[in-house]
Amino acid sequence: MPGAASKALIDIRAVTKSYFSGSVETKVLFGVDLQVERGDFIAVMGQSGSGKSTLMNILGCLDQATGGDYFLDGENTLALSRAQLAEIRNRTIGFVFQSFNLIKRMSVAENVALPLIYAGVPRGRALAKAAVELERVGLADFGKRTPNQLSGGQQQRVAIARALVGDPPLILADEPTGNLDTQTSDEIMRGFQALNRERGITIVLVTHEPDIAAWSRRLVRLKDGRVLYDGPAQEGLRQLAASHEHLVHGQTQESEA
Ligand SMILES: Nc1ncnc2c1ncn2[C@@H]1O[C@H](COP(=O)(O)OP(=O)(O)OP(=O)(O)O)[C@@H](O)[C@H]1O
Ligand SMILES: [Mg+2]
Repeated sequence: MPGAASKALIDIRAVTKSYFSGSVETKVLFGVDLQVERGDFIAVMGQSGSGKSTLMNILGCLDQATGGDYFLDGENTLALSRAQLAEIRNRTIGFVFQSFNLIKRMSVAENVALPLIYAGVPRGRALAKAAVELERVGLADFGKRTPNQLSGGQQQRVAIARALVGDPPLILADEPTGNLDTQTSDEIMRGFQALNRERGITIVLVTHEPDIAAWSRRLVRLKDGRVLYDGPAQEGLRQLAASHEHLVHGQTQESEA
């Protein structure tokens, strides 16, 4: 029973992904393997177009692989119905995005409570849990504001509180510091580190910045839809610095080898 054999939180095997536009196939992932244990803290790096977001969307069950296997918390996601997939996603994963994705016409507290309200939790209880999470990210006094009355870093902390409100074991974050300055980025990363160390939350985040990836324990580098490196972050970043990939305007560009 392959499902029962997998204890990892995330276990993908030989995952391929193609996008189809009519009869035209664009291959993006070419057989990616990735096992993520509970408590892992992983940074995913790679050039623009290497497939990072595509991979994250598959990990988050927001999109389906074209081929291969994906076990999430021991469940074979390919065998699940849409409703079952939504259920395991809500239970297991909190999402954080580059652009925060907060709803502007709702209060901060309502934004944080929303995943619980969607999951059928009574409004009062959802708002009480939202208040707890807002306090944990240092925004206890900001619940009544609307998102546009907050700084970028504060908005991202609201998004992190929203991601955590359902107590998922896993956070998936696609360039969470991409819109933030260096100091604010460091504050956000310190927060992720605390979540990982103190609450045991598993974190997989995409970044273009070696300084951001350095907060993680493990680095996965993608190149043209394949895993180029998967190992300790320090060693991976050392290899990256020594490689021909240079950072240009927040994106990696490769010179001719
Ligand atoms: N919905 C789609 N339809 C067709 N092609 C797509 C689609 N989404 C992504 N692609 C293509 O797949 C490849 C990988 O895209 P992806 O967004 O995963 O890259 P990325 O590594 O996240 O890049 P970036 O660092 O710029 O965010 C790109 O060539 C992109 O054009
Ligand atoms: Mg991307």
